[in-house]
Amino acid sequence: MRALTRSHQPLFVCAWLLWYSTPCHGKPDPRRREALMDVETRRGTGGHVALSEKEKALDEKLYQMKLHDMAGPTFPPAIHFFKAKPLIERSPVFTLLQKMPKGAALHVHDFAMVGVEWLVKNVTYREKCYVCFTDNHSVRFVFSIGQPELQPHCSEWILLKTLREKLNSTELDNSFVHNLTLFTEDPDKAYPNQDTVWQRFEQAFIVANGLVTYAPVFKDYLYEGLRQFYMDNVLYVEIRALLSSTYELDAKRNSKDWSLRACREVVQRFKAQYPDFVGARVIFTVHRGLNSTEAVKAVEEAMSLKKNFPDIMAGFDFVGREDSGRPLWYFREALGLPEEKGTDLPYFFHAGETDSEGTEVDQNVMDALLFNTSRIGHGFAMARHPVVKELARKMDVAVEVCPISNQVLKLVSDLRNHPAAALMAEGHPMVISSDDPALFGAAGLSYDFYQVFMGFGGMKSNLATLKELVLNSVRYSSLSSTMKEKATATLLVRWDKFVSESLLQTHQKTRL
Ligand SMILES: *[C@@H]1O[C@H](CO)[C@@H](O)[C@H](O)[C@H]1NC(C)=O
Ligand SMILES: *[C@@H]1O[C@H](CO)[C@@H](O)[C@H](O)[C@H]1NC(C)=O
Ligand SMILES: *[C@@H]1O[C@H](CO)[C@@H](O)[C@H](O)[C@H]1NC(C)=O
Ligand SMILES: *[C@@H]1O[C@H](CO)[C@@H](O)[C@H](O)[C@H]1NC(C)=O
Ligand SMILES: *[C@@H]1O[C@H](CO)[C@@H](O)[C@H](O)[C@H]1NC(C)=O
Ligand SMILES: *[C@@H]1O[C@H](CO)[C@@H](O)[C@H](O)[C@H]1NC(C)=O
Ligand SMILES: [Zn+2]
Repeated sequence: MRALTRSHQPLFVCAWLLWYSTPCHGKPDPRRREALMDVETRRGTGGHVALSEKEKALDEKLYQMKLHDMAGPTFPPAIHFFKAKPLIERSPVFTLLQKMPKGAALHVHDFAMVGVEWLVKNVTYREKCYVCFTDNHSVRFVFSIGQPELQPHCSEWILLKTLREKLNSTELDNSFVHNLTLFTEDPDKAYPNQDTVWQRFEQAFIVANGLVTYAPVFKDYLYEGLRQFYMDNVLYVEIRALLSSTYELDAKRNSKDWSLRACREVVQRFKAQYPDFVGARVIFTVHRGLNSTEAVKAVEEAMSLKKNFPDIMAGFDFVGREDSGRPLWYFREALGLPEEKGTDLPYFFHAGETDSEGTEVDQNVMDALLFNTSRIGHGFAMARHPVVKELARKMDVAVEVCPISNQVLKLVSDLRNHPAAALMAEGHPMVISSDDPALFGAAGLSYDFYQVFMGFGGMKSNLATLKELVLNSVRYSSLSSTMKEKATATLLVRWDKFVSESLLQTHQKTRL
């Protein structure tokens, strides 16, 4: 009740004041100012989260840490992530965010979860790994029992073990790392526009492909991916996966069913090792370059996978650059199939990952909702679509915001200007995710949380903002309502522990 009178009554009084007293006295009523500020704060993400006394105490510390980062000569969210990364890593805010339980990662891609160091130092050092060098200075890998077949535009395959004896291994490994990530000292020079950065981005996936689709590596990769997210205090992951066929040493190919069974087995094994981990589910994806006939086949396949693997299969999505792929509306026949046949196939569409307003691609954000998408991936274009925003709120469809991805792929350069900052200010349903952390040199979710907390929120976002974002990640997941309740309970226990421990640590630090 008090809250109501505080926010409504002054507004009413002030409307009167605005008309009558402002011109006479020349000064706005400070009570009105405060009331309006209060209304605005309540509207933002976290605006309705009531903090406990302990949480308020931690929030105060967090505010002091924030002031410190804001006062530095370079504000990390304002510059390219490749340059900001070392600054972020020195920030006490970041250290705290790493410890914070972050709930779920709802937008990550299968082969971009694990830091590439692991691929190079662990996977390429395994037995029977071959490499070839392409005409345009890229590399390809394959595991094989004997000499693999020649690939077009690639040198003869060389056993890596033999090559390492001849060349400087450190330099060779560094060059592999470079092929597998987008990281570079001078990103503006290396990637002058979206086309060049997307080209490198897609190349990096092709380079990784020969390593990660080797059946034993596929399983180890997933396990390591879950481990790296879990170490970043993420308890549940939804992985967008192409489920492209994996291969054995004798080049025999495995089916999609094999991949889903492998995922299920790895997740179970991981949960046995880390009992408070909630789990992982797969969103089956296909490339948006498919034509309509191929898309019909893909959706039919997705429906049957969903039926056969209801526990691990969450739904369906398209991947690939939206600006150069086909729009959702083109796939309408395929996408209408589940509804027509009365089959359950939830959608999790990437939509509006574009700067080009008014194009068919830009229209994807609306079309995603018309096809009853469960969430919107990126939704970078949303802020420019007021009707879509309203519809999304009515349908309670959250947007999956991946700030670092959007910056590296050149949709926005200064993250303070990210359109989702405005969405956050108006409390639009959202979750934070990291898309392809391995390719950007990030890990888990903490770097993206830092960018959102500091860059989107500025001095305004606080512990309540973070708490809502974290709770949202479970709320908007594909888990059943029973599982959501359980996951939220686990999360809140960890949250309270995090608050208590962080308070204790900051106290100790100030005493020292
Ligand atoms: C590589 O990873 C596997 C599985 O994660 C692990 O068992 C093995 O010890 C690792 N090897 C090296 C050399 O790090
Ligand atoms: C490099 O060559 C491969 C194989 O011929 C091709 O698929 C790819 O598009 C080329 N990449 C660039 C950046 O030219
Ligand atoms: C290999 O290259 C690295 C980096 O260039 C260099 O520091 C190292 O001394 C080289 N190792 C050998 C054995 O030449
Ligand atoms: C990829 O690796 C090759 C071979 O080691 C190297 O020549 C090339 O510079 C690397 N490409 C990138 C983009 O780092
Ligand atoms: C789609 O591509 C396949 C080849 O993959 C072709 O057979 C089919 O006719 C194409 N369909 C359309 C509608 O273009
Ligand atoms: C979306 O959901 C609404 C309401 O449940 C339903 O009427 C409509 O047919 C669905 N549309 C599609 C394309 O699935
Ligand atoms: Zn994505």
